[in-house]
Amino acid sequence: MVFWRSLLLVLARLSTTCLGQAADGRGNGDRKGLISGNGLINLGQTWGSRSPLMHLNANLSELTSLKSSFEFRTLDPEGVVLYGETKGCAEWFVLGLRGGVPEMQVGIARTLTSVAGGPKINDGKWHKVELQNEGDFFELGIDGKTALMLGLRTNRDDCLMAAQMRLALGGILIKELELLNPLREEMDGCVRAGNWLNLSTPWEMHLREDPRPCFHEIRKGSFFSGTGLALFNTSDFPSKLTGEEGVEVKIQGCSSMWNGTILSLMNSQNKPVLIITARPQTEELFVMLGTRIAKLKLGPDTLVLALSSSYIVVEFGQKEPLWLMDATHDWVRMWDEGVLLAFGGVPGDSHAKLEGCLSLIQIQRQDVDLDQALQKHNSISSHSCPFTPQTMKNNSLDEIN
Ligand SMILES: *[C@@H]1O[C@H](CO)[C@@H](O)[C@H](O)[C@H]1NC(C)=O
Ligand SMILES: *[C@@H]1O[C@H](CO)[C@@H](O)[C@H](O)[C@H]1NC(C)=O
Ligand SMILES: *[C@@H]1O[C@H](CO)[C@@H](O)[C@H](O)[C@H]1NC(C)=O
Ligand SMILES: *[C@@H]1O[C@H](CO)[C@@H](O)[C@H](O)[C@H]1NC(C)=O
Repeated sequence: MVFWRSLLLVLARLSTTCLGQAADGRGNGDRKGLISGNGLINLGQTWGSRSPLMHLNANLSELTSLKSSFEFRTLDPEGVVLYGETKGCAEWFVLGLRGGVPEMQVGIARTLTSVAGGPKINDGKWHKVELQNEGDFFELGIDGKTALMLGLRTNRDDCLMAAQMRLALGGILIKELELLNPLREEMDGCVRAGNWLNLSTPWEMHLREDPRPCFHEIRKGSFFSGTGLALFNTSDFPSKLTGEEGVEVKIQGCSSMWNGTILSLMNSQNKPVLIITARPQTEELFVMLGTRIAKLKLGPDTLVLALSSSYIVVEFGQKEPLWLMDATHDWVRMWDEGVLLAFGGVPGDSHAKLEGCLSLIQIQRQDVDLDQALQKHNSISSHSCPFTPQTMKNNSLDEIN
């Protein structure tokens, strides 16, 4: 494929004009560390930042191979896995997923191209991914079969020679980069057994916090580790959506393993007016509405919260639903006007952050993707829960300075 080839071999004629003002995607104040590219790496990048988790610089003259391979596991339908570029001629390459299906996008000077296809690989299993370049063609293999082939030939006579290339995992290095088909970058996925162009150089990692672990085995859901929450504006989920009166929030999971605040709803002054908290010590679910507290027994059940203009209904288990009359707010109007809704805690309150897995979150019968939150703590994995909480494995971080 042209990108790779030019990236790796041809680089003779790269121009300086194309992405001349390209800026580094890195934030300030990060800790830096070196990490081997062949260990177990969680690509979950700092939420809301467009910078990749780690990157590698290489001199093109050192390259002996045009092949990269790695194993990849995710339940996330969309995000960036690998990015590569050479400076000078705006030559870049992105491998990502959309709808779980692999997608490659390539830019060379002003030519942009995008190709998607192959099997859905966001099934939580490890898949072998191979990328290689031969001539003008670039090939993506999944589990030993060719999934995508992309050919691209451009005239790069006006390009200057580039001596270096950069690779990045879990994000894109250039802020101004315009993809032909915009892709949400955050990827809740893990990579292992990486061989990156046969380079043995360690990667540079940027961290604001400890690296997120890769769970030994994963299942669908959003995992809260007890340190952070995800915030939404309720106006993003209008009550009129289903054509029914009111608002419905549905949460599933193994509630006997929840510990902490599942959900909280603020009023327009950002004061919590409704808090639902699981207390495993007493196996109870507390519903706090203003100063009132109602209790339900924790069990393997779906939690459904329904808001109407003057009352709230909490359904949990086989028992009678809990009806809470409250005319101090018009709940539906408040919701539509836009107040804060948090999953995993109460904003501004460091206590009772949720530890546990919410295997499904729906609002108005639509799945909620925590990656779309207004704000999300980096400790939350939006698309994966550990199969059992005890089996977390640390990243193979060699050194963090
Ligand atoms: C690339 O080459 C330059 C000299 O041309 C050298 O200083 C640098 O260390 C090399 N980089 C790597 C990653 O080998
Ligand atoms: C990969 O690199 C090693 C040395 O680091 C070298 O011996 C080997 O030949 C290289 N493999 C290929 C396919 O270039
Ligand atoms: C939520 O969105 C609405 C309308 O889009 C806005 O008026 C309101 O201020 C937002 N609320 C918060 C807490 O951000
Ligand atoms: C629940 O979390 C609290 C801290 O928030 C902790 O003290 C308690 O031991 C936890 N309970 C269980 C059963 O994990």
